[in-house]
Amino acid sequence: MSAHSRRKFLEYLRNSPLLLPAAGALVAQDPASKAIGSPDEALNVFDFMTAAQKKIMPQHWAYLMTGADDDLTVKANREGFQLFQIRPRRFVDVLQIDTSVEVFGQRHTSPVMVAPCGSHGAFHPDAEIATARGARDGSAQMILSTYASLSIRDVAKEYGRPLWFQLYPTNDFEVTRELIRRAEAVGAPVLVLTCDSPAGANRETQRRGWDKKQPQCRACHDTGVPNYLREHRTFDGIDLSRVRGHLYPITWDLVERVRRVTSMKIVMKGVVTGEDAELCVKNGVDGIIVSNHGGRQEETLLSTIEVLPEVIDAVSGKIPVLIDSGFRRGTDVFKALALGAKAICIGRPYLWGLGAFGSAGVQRVLELLKAELTVVMRMSGTPAVANITPRHVRRRPC
Ligand code: GLV
Repeated sequence: MSAHSRRKFLEYLRNSPLLLPAAGALVAQDPASKAIGSPDEALNVFDFMTAAQKKIMPQHWAYLMTGADDDLTVKANREGFQLFQIRPRRFVDVLQIDTSVEVFGQRHTSPVMVAPCGSHGAFHPDAEIATARGARDGSAQMILSTYASLSIRDVAKEYGRPLWFQLYPTNDFEVTRELIRRAEAVGAPVLVLTCDSPAGANRETQRRGWDKKQPQCRACHDTGVPNYLREHRTFDGIDLSRVRGHLYPITWDLVERVRRVTSMKIVMKGVVTGEDAELCVKNGVDGIIVSNHGGRQEETLLSTIEVLPEVIDAVSGKIPVLIDSGFRRGTDVFKALALGAKAICIGRPYLWGLGAFGSAGVQRVLELLKAELTVVMRMSGTPAVANITPRHVRRRPC
């Protein structure tokens, strides 16, 4: 993209009705604002946003920041946290704080995990290798997306610990089966199925930023399926000739088929109602991620922090419930833990870190969230995650 068209595009973004204050503060930073020059300068995860925007191609930035329609679910996810206030308790020895949690029998030093997000190559040349390094050094569980730019094997090698793998099935179960085999081959203990993407969403912010006529877009993005899949090395060497689309609905029949071919734990990502959470338990799912895909799939949803209590009620402790979508602060993490989540996944913040500074940015984003959580835990009289209870938050009366 020439300097002129880049300037025009940024000007367009600034003037876009989508980016007026209500939604705008959440989906774009004023590119003129000062960016940090190194990860150490960041005071919070938002500091990586400006730095990343300056480095990421505008088309990729639009892909990263997009919601659906008017980006209202993106906005709701952030606003949801304001509905809950913390009730700190005093008179507790809080000299030592332990942020660790146990999920599926494995201890994690922080409850913050790296959510599956596609195409890290769009944000940094080292792509998921840099993310894996940052997640490893930031002691966070990494969940690798089906739409990773790099292969499962290469990323797993760099990460050096068991990855969780997120699966998007296609109409061809043989492809699904091969992806599962590849995840098993690197020792992934958990398979995350994303159930909120039976079809493509109306991502207008992304489409406005997209320009297939640009030569550098055409160089990477061929049109149609399975070419889209071939852009992702996850699929290297797999026969994609029978694949008709890159998104496919998750049904209980499909879950059963997956269950028959793997002993990995199956975690359902994208559940936002108590009814579906009950169905997950009934159908033998091992865990749930309450998620609205960071607001990228559907418009005018409730924030995930608002729906967390009904999901927690529905599963009655039978399976672990994790959550993502809109987490940016230690207080956000604390509130979700108080409402019963076992762990929290982040998406855009670590991608800002990645885009801005590669693995060091990812690591610093994770460290900042852990540090903020440590402060909130100390101030709230909760030296360990097990001490954080529903009594530590209350919902603001309507
Ligand atoms: C993929 O899952 C995306 O949200 O783009």
